[in-house]
Formats: sequence, structure tokens, C-alpha cells
Amino acid sequence: MLGERFPSDSFPICRIETDRWHSTFSQSQQAQATGVLEAGGLILLPRLAFQISDYERPCLMPQCVRQGSKHVSFDPRTGAMRGATRQVQRAKSLQPLLQRYAEQAAALVRSLFAYDVRSLEVARTSFRPFETSDRISSWRKDDRRLHVDAFPSSPNQGRRLLRVFSNVNPEGRERVWNVGEPFEAVARRFLPTIARRWPGQARLLYALRITRSLRTEYDQIMLQIHDGMKADDSYQASVASTQLSFPAGSTWVLQTDAVSHAALSGQFMFEQTFLLPVDRMQDPSRSPLRILERLAGRRLA
Ligand SMILES: [Fe+2]
Repeated sequence: MLGERFPSDSFPICRIETDRWHSTFSQSQQAQATGVLEAGGLILLPRLAFQISDYERPCLMPQCVRQGSKHVSFDPRTGAMRGATRQVQRAKSLQPLLQRYAEQAAALVRSLFAYDVRSLEVARTSFRPFETSDRISSWRKDDRRLHVDAFPSSPNQGRRLLRVFSNVNPEGRERVWNVGEPFEAVARRFLPTIARRWPGQARLLYALRITRSLRTEYDQIMLQIHDGMKADDSYQASVASTQLSFPAGSTWVLQTDAVSHAALSGQFMFEQTFLLPVDRMQDPSRSPLRILERLAGRRLA
């Protein structure tokens, strides 16, 4: 059984046995799921599959991704798709799938967690048809190494990164991850190595359109933690980790800014990102922003 692969004593997991994206959860279920999420754990929905019809399946090929891209990304707010070949863009075959995934993931997150629906911002959707080991151009982009998520061009300015993932592998292959130590342990280890930014850096990056919004000191620190973790071979080899397997047809949810994770193997996945303000959390003191501010002794965003 799947549950035996998840050693719950080493990593918090809340397992939910629904097969419907539009489910109703009780207040106590919401509080429990939210507590596990904010504690740096993971919500596993082993029977919640993103259904793809036989008619739709031919468009889920690695060949739909444009040369030089890692995946196809989609903005549910505008309908804009990036990273797909011109042929796929023209055929408009992938947009309805990405749109449907975004809507179903939003329905799940809005019903499962104890958050004000208006506080959750729906961000990018992605389709990732490549084997995780393919298309790695540098250690910085190597997601097989443990890391917390931080994005150079998209500062989140302290907001939480809440992400829904679904394994849609057509051959029934699982997706395998490692998860590492809790965020506070990561922060204590890497914060002393962080260089302070220079005055005017954030405005210059924004003016040059390197970032889509101002990169706060929090974003700067998170990027350096992301890079520091991935670049440190001895850390990667020695830090305690737990291996998790996500079967085809399963879905899982976590806050990837706080959970140290590495994607070891797997192919064909959908992912939806949500942004959540720290002050809308059940317990804001568990956010990376508040943990880093406590350790640094100053405001960071
Ligand atoms: Fe990641």
C-alpha cells in the first residue's frame, strides 16, 4: 500500500482519500490540512487524478515544448501560454487542459484549506512532460538537488508559494522526491553565508526588467539559500532526507518555499501555483519570512 512508503514519523503527511476535485471538507478537516501544510508537511491525495481523455492525450507529448524551454507554462488570468511550440500554440489543444487543471486545483485549495478565498492569488500553471533528469543546463537549475523554491525574475515579496502537483504519467510510472530538513534548520545553516545586497540593487533589477517586481531583501535571501543549498555537494550528500513516491493518478500539495525538496525521477506532471499573504496564514510565525526575520533581527519585506 502507498501509505507504507511514507514514514509519517519523519515528515508530516496528511493523507486524504477523495477522488473528486470539488469536495466539501469539514472545519476540522480544513484545520488539520492547513496545520500540516503550515508545519512544512505535505497533503497527499493518492486517488485524486487529473483526468485526461483519450482524445486529449496525444497533445501531452514532450514534443509540445519549444526548444530551450523546460515546460509549458500558462497564466489562467490571461490565457497566455509560454514554452509551447508554434504548432501547439496554433492548434490550441493544450490551453483547455491547462485551464481545466488551474480551475480544479483552485477548487481543491479553496475547499481544503482554512484560508479566505479572496486572499489566495492564482498564479502560473505548468505542464512538465520531460523526465526530471532531462534538460539540466546547470547546478542552479538542477531540481534533483534539495532546495526551497525561489525565482530570480518573480519576487514573491514574502508571500507563500502554495503548489498543487499531479502525476499524469500515461504508463503508470511514479514520481519520486526527496524532502529534507525543516525550513528553520535550512535557514540557520545558510543565513550566515548570505551576502547583503547593495543599495539600489532592487530598483535597478526592476528597471532593467530582470525582475517583474521589486526584489525585497527576503527574496534576495531566499534566492541565495536556494543557490547555496544546490551548490553545496557535502550538504546534499549528508543532510537527512525522506524519500516519497507519488503514483500515477495522485495529487499532492505543499508550500515549496518552506519544504526542502528534490525531484529525483518522474515524467508528465501538471502543477498549479498559488500565492498567499503571510498575514492570512493560520500561523504566520511558521512562514519563511517570519522565521528569517526572527533569525536576522530585522524586517526583510
Ligand atoms: Fe522546486
